[in-house]
Amino acid sequence: MLYDSPATDTPIERLRVVGQPHPRIDGALKTTGTAPYAYERHDVAEGQVYGWPVVAGIPKGRILGIDTLAARGAPGVLGIVTAPEVGPHENGPMNTALLFGGDRVQHYHQAIAVVIAETFEQARAAAALVSVDYAPEAGRFDLHAAAAAHEPGDPDMSHGDFESAFAEAPVTIDQRYSTPGEYHAAMEPHATIAAWEGDRLTVWTSNQMIAWARRDLATVLGIPQENIRVDSPYIGGGFGGKLFVRSDVVMAAHAARRVGRPVKVMLPRPFITNNGTHRAATLQHIRIGAGTDGRITALSHESTSGNLPGGSPETATAQSEMFYAGANRMTRVNLVELDLPEGNAMRAPGETPGLMALEIAMDEMAEALKMDPVAFRALNDTQVNPANPDRRFSRRNFVDCLERGAAAFGWSARNPVPGQRREGDWLIGHGMAGAFRGSPALASGARVRLQPDGRVIVESDMTDIGTGSYTIMAQTAAEMMGLELGQIEMRLGDSDYPVAAGSGGQFGASCSTAGVYAACVKLREAVAKALGLNQAEIDFSDGMVRSGARAIPLAEAAAGGEIVVEDTIEFGDFRSAAELDTFGAHFVEVGVNVATGETRVRRMLAVCDSGRILNPITARSQVIGAMTMGVGAALSEELAVDTARGFFVNHDLASYEVPVHSDIPSQEVIFIEDTDANSSPLKAKGIGELGLCGVGAAISNAVYNATGVRVRDYPLTLDKLLAGLPEI
Ligand code: MOS
Repeated sequence: MLYDSPATDTPIERLRVVGQPHPRIDGALKTTGTAPYAYERHDVAEGQVYGWPVVAGIPKGRILGIDTLAARGAPGVLGIVTAPEVGPHENGPMNTALLFGGDRVQHYHQAIAVVIAETFEQARAAAALVSVDYAPEAGRFDLHAAAAAHEPGDPDMSHGDFESAFAEAPVTIDQRYSTPGEYHAAMEPHATIAAWEGDRLTVWTSNQMIAWARRDLATVLGIPQENIRVDSPYIGGGFGGKLFVRSDVVMAAHAARRVGRPVKVMLPRPFITNNGTHRAATLQHIRIGAGTDGRITALSHESTSGNLPGGSPETATAQSEMFYAGANRMTRVNLVELDLPEGNAMRAPGETPGLMALEIAMDEMAEALKMDPVAFRALNDTQVNPANPDRRFSRRNFVDCLERGAAAFGWSARNPVPGQRREGDWLIGHGMAGAFRGSPALASGARVRLQPDGRVIVESDMTDIGTGSYTIMAQTAAEMMGLELGQIEMRLGDSDYPVAAGSGGQFGASCSTAGVYAACVKLREAVAKALGLNQAEIDFSDGMVRSGARAIPLAEAAAGGEIVVEDTIEFGDFRSAAELDTFGAHFVEVGVNVATGETRVRRMLAVCDSGRILNPITARSQVIGAMTMGVGAALSEELAVDTARGFFVNHDLASYEVPVHSDIPSQEVIFIEDTDANSSPLKAKGIGELGLCGVGAAISNAVYNATGVRVRDYPLTLDKLLAGLPEI
C-alpha cells in the first residue's frame, strides 16, 4: 500500500484497542524468564558447541602471526579460526571497521580469532593460550589534539548572515561544551548461535534490523543473502549497538563452518565496549544573539567529533537548524580521524549530544536576557523551518509542552536566582530543557493469517528490543479485524517473514504498525470477497463482519482454510513536504550535597508531542527509560580514553556507571493529545528517542540553579562542582 496522502477516517479511529493502555503481551514471558534470548536457544539446533573470541591487544598495527599450537592441544578444543586466515571482507554500508578478517588491527579489542571447544570453560581456557605477534603502529586517540589541528570546512547550513547579526546583537552568549563517548550498555550481550546446512546459514542472534543484518552478513561472508536466515525474536536492549551485524555473528558463522557443528558465541561484557560501536565524544561551540526583546536573531552551532578513517561524524548540530526561530543561522560538523573503536549510532544520535549543549546555551541565554527559560523558549517557537520558511512543521505543539510541563511541575515556584534553596545538607535546584527529534519513516511489511477459528496470526521481521512492538502491532491487527487482543498471535524477528522497518531512529512503532494496517486492509478485502459482502459498507467488530442487515462471524471467512495475505506500507513523497518532527519538554529537580557535591535527581517530568500515542503504557515505558538514560549521560556515563594506549578504559558495568530505578524516585510523563495525519495511517510518530533528547541539559540547568556552578563538560561529576560550592 502506498501511503500517498494524509490519513483520514480509518477503522483505527474507533480506538477500541489502539490507543488503549494494554500491558505488554510478551510481559509474562519476560518476567518469568521464559522469553528465549539468543544465547539460550538450546532447542534450535542439536550439538551446540562454544566459541570464545580472541581480541586485539593493540589499537593499531598488523598481525605478524598468531600462535595457536598450545590452544589446539588444550582439552575439548575443536578448532580455531583466525582473522588472517579468513582474510579481509567487504563491509555493510553503515559500518567502518572490519568485523572479523584480515591482518590489520584497526582498533583495540577488534576480533582476531575464535576458539571453538565442547564447553564454554574449555573454549575460554584455550583462548588464553593463544599468543599474537603484532607490528604496532602509532595511532591518534586524543580528540582535543585532533580538533585543535583541524581546519574547519564550509558550514553545513548557512542562512542569512550569522556573523553580522551576531556582532550586532545586543545580548549574546558564546560558549563551548563537550560530551564524552558513551556506550549502549545493553543488558543482553551481543550473542549468536550459528548453524550451517550445506551452504545455508541460520543465525539466532540479537539484532535490531533483521533485513540489514541479512544483507550485511551476506556481504561480510560473501554468500547470497537468500542463503541466510536471521532470527531474533527477543532482544535485551540495543540502543543502536545492535543496529548492525557485529563480530559475534561473523565469528559464529566462520566457527560453525569450521567445526561442522552449531557454534554459539557471546561477546564477554569486558570486550563489548571496545569491540563494538559507541556514541562518539563531541566538542561543541554555540553562539546565540538576541534583541533585548528576547527574540533570537543569530544562532550558530558547531561540533567536532572523531572516528576511524572512513567513518561518520556525530551530527550534533542537526536540531539547531530548525528548533528555534532566528533568521541568521549557521551549523558546521567537523570530523577528525581517530584510531579509537568505531563511533556509530546510539539512541537519538545527533540530537542527544547536540541538545545536551544547545539546551544549556538556551538556559544561559535566558539568564543573560533576564528572562524565564520557559518563556524564552516559547517566545522563540517557530511553526516553519526558519532556514526555509516555505516548509511548515506538520504538527508542532512545543509551546503546549512547555506550558503543560511548567504547570504540572510547579515551575512558577522555582527561585530563578541560583544557590538560594537549601534543605539540610542539600542544595535544591530546578531546570528544564526543550526536546526535539526527527520522525523518519521506512517501508514496513507484514503477513496476516486468518485462522479457521477466527484468530489472526501476524508475521513480520519487525523486532521488539524491549519497546513494545509485539503489543502495538497486535493492537493494530485487533482494531482492524474487530478482534480482542488475545485473538492475535504475533510472530516477529525472523527473516522468513516480510521485511519491516525494524527498530531504529524511533521509526519502529509508527512504521511497523502501518505495515500491519496495510496487510489488514488487504485481509478485510479478502474476507469480504470470501463472504460475498460489499466491502464498501463493511464493518469488523466483536468478531463479526457486518454489512447492511447481515452479520457473519469472521471465522466463517476462513472455514475452508486459512486466508493469508501480506502487504508493505510505502511512505509517499507527500510526507516530506512538511517538517515531521517530535517535540517535548523536560523538567528536573535535583539536590546537590553541599559538602560532597553528590548530585541526586529527585523528580523528573517529560511532556511529549508525538502524534497519536498507540499505547500509553508502552510509550510511557519508552520515555521513562530514555529519561533514565539521560540521567546517566548527565551525571555518570563517560568512556574514559587512555590516550597513550588507545582504548576505552572503563569497559565493564562496574566502572561505566549507568543509573538504576532507585536512583530516581519520581518520573512522570505527559502526552500531548494530538494526531499527525501526515506521519502514518495511524497518525502516530516516534517517541522512543524523544524521551532522551534534552534530559542532560535539563539536569545541568537544575544543577546550576541549585549551586550557581555552570558545568559545560559532561558528565557532571562532583569534582566539577566542589570548588564552587558554599563554604561549610
Ligand atoms: Mo537507534 S541509535 O537508530 O537504535
